[in-house]
Amino acid sequence: EIGYINGEFVSLNEKVIPIDERGHQFGDGVYEVIRIYDGKPFMMEEHLERLINSAKAIRLPITESVDDFKSLIMKAVEKSELHNCNVYLQITRGIATRQHLFPNVPASISMTVREANPLSDEMRNTGVTAITHEDERWANCYIKSLNLLPNILAKQVAHEAGCFEAILVRDGYVTEGTSSNMFIVKNGAVYTTPLSKHILPGITRIAVKEIANPLQINFYEEHFTEDQLMSAEEIFMTSTTAEVLPIVRVNDKPIGHGVPGEVTKKLYEQFKRKVE
Ligand code: PDD
Repeated sequence: EIGYINGEFVSLNEKVIPIDERGHQFGDGVYEVIRIYDGKPFMMEEHLERLINSAKAIRLPITESVDDFKSLIMKAVEKSELHNCNVYLQITRGIATRQHLFPNVPASISMTVREANPLSDEMRNTGVTAITHEDERWANCYIKSLNLLPNILAKQVAHEAGCFEAILVRDGYVTEGTSSNMFIVKNGAVYTTPLSKHILPGITRIAVKEIANPLQINFYEEHFTEDQLMSAEEIFMTSTTAEVLPIVRVNDKPIGHGVPGEVTKKLYEQFKRKVE
C-alpha cells in the first residue's frame, strides 16, 4: 500500500495534513474510489470525468486533465506493487488559514492505494440485509463530496441493527444506499432510480445498465417507493467495492424468497466476466 499527497509518495501512516486543511476542517472537497483488477483500472475514464464534474460543481478549479490523473494513478498503483487494489483519490480546496471564503491557494490532491479486500463468498452467496432510513442528505448528492455525515450515520444505524446497508428514502421514494446505488427486480425487469441531483451517478450502475441489454434483461430508470421495494422479487445494490450485491432482507422482512434472485445472479456473473 502507498499514499500520495501534493507531489510526493508517502507511507500511509505518515503525518501529512496540516491543521488548516480545508478537506479536514470543512469537508471542502471531492473524491473517487477506483478499483484495479489485475493491474487494470475498471472504468477509470468514467470515474475521472465524474471527479472533474464534482470539482466543477463545487467551483474547485483543477489544472490536471483526465490523462494527468490517469498517469498519476498508474504510477501510484505501480509503486504500491498491488494488482488488486482500491485507489482513493481526493481533491480539496487546499491549505489556508481557516475562514469560510474560498482561499487563493492551489488544490490539494491526495491518494491512497490499498489492497482490495473483496466481500466474503458467504455474503455474496447468501446475500446481505438492509434497513430503510430517511435520506437526510442535502440537495446535491450527484456531487461525490467529502461531506458524508448523513451517509455514515445511516450506515452505522444499519450496522447496529445487524445489517450491511441502509437504503435511503426521500419523500417515500428510494434514492440509493449510503454508498451504493439501488435496484429492484419486478416481473424479471430491473428498475433503478433515475439520475437526478438526489443520487450519485454510479459507475457500477452504468456497467450494470450495459450488461443488462445483452442478457435480454429489461432495464428501466424509474422511481420506486419504499412499498415497491419491500414487495420486489429481488433487490441488489452496486458500488465499486461491493460490485453487484444481493439484498435479501429489508427491515427484517424477506425480499422475494429471501435468497439471491436469478436476475441478480446473472448480472453479477456477467459483471465478473467483464472485469476478469
Ligand atoms: N461509494 N452512491 C453513493 C452515495 C456512493 O457513495 C457510491 C460509491 C455509489 C456507487 O458508485 P460507484 O458505482 O461509482 O462506486 C452510489 C464509494 C465506493 C465509497 O464512498 O466508498
